[in-house]
Amino acid sequence: MNFLKTKSAYLDTGVWANKAMKEAKGFGETICVASSKDKNYTYIPKGYVIPSDADYFHITTNNTIYGTEIRYDMDSPVSLIADMSSDFLSRPTDISKYDMVYGGAQKNIGPAGATFVLIKESFLSKIATETRHIPTMFNYKTHIENDSMFNTPPVMPIFTIKETLKWLKSIGGLKKMEAMNIEKAGILYNAIDSSSIFVGTAEAESRSLMNICFVLKPEYTEKENDFLDLCKAKGMSGLKGHRSVGGFRASTYNALPMESVLALVEAMKEFEKSL
Ligand SMILES: Cc1ncc(COP(=O)(O)O)c(C=O)c1O
Repeated sequence: MNFLKTKSAYLDTGVWANKAMKEAKGFGETICVASSKDKNYTYIPKGYVIPSDADYFHITTNNTIYGTEIRYDMDSPVSLIADMSSDFLSRPTDISKYDMVYGGAQKNIGPAGATFVLIKESFLSKIATETRHIPTMFNYKTHIENDSMFNTPPVMPIFTIKETLKWLKSIGGLKKMEAMNIEKAGILYNAIDSSSIFVGTAEAESRSLMNICFVLKPEYTEKENDFLDLCKAKGMSGLKGHRSVGGFRASTYNALPMESVLALVEAMKEFEKSL
């Protein structure tokens, strides 16, 4: 609504990417440069062409439901906009490559209720106020001009974000966070890859460090609930995969300690032995 004047470009890598593209269609021409829908979003497409006359190119850096992630800061011939809801602050990011980054706070930085939007000043001047009426509340300029207090801000979530950011700094910042995330996800992916009953759903080179999706091999699928029950008995819940993928999803966001990863790996081994 703020930036589409004549044409926009989208990379369709999952439900959230697709929903963003669907909304854009209501405001002008929208090009889908590539989609991984053909394989239930299990990979990040490559080798696509971004139209050089688009107002912006929109990506979703981490696809929460499918466990795929764009873990690099890409070059784009047009303004790059990224939904970073589920991997923001999980690694050092070259923010200069993006004209806008946005997301919900509720994965890595705080509780639900707060959102973050970063916009380059040069991009802000491109807001499409001459193309359409943008309601005051929806215009990003309104929030910048009012120091993010145009409406009553959710003070508790914002306070919690401040405390989380202090914690992030205290452990050594984003470099350290990335190293911890690589280690946690690595242990879990290794456990999946070396298992004779579990298998990962995302293509290896597109794998996310934040959401690790895996299923039981077809011959064991009927045992899915047994594994969830075993996890529950050990105090682990929320491991059921999204209904569109099935199986299991272990979210290893910044806040998840290594102990939790080790506990899950232990449970996976125990379950495998029991079969
Ligand atoms: C990448 C991504 N974008 C957007 C959303 C939507 O967030 P909300 O439910 O806060 O609108 C989610 C939620 O999981 C997400 O993972």
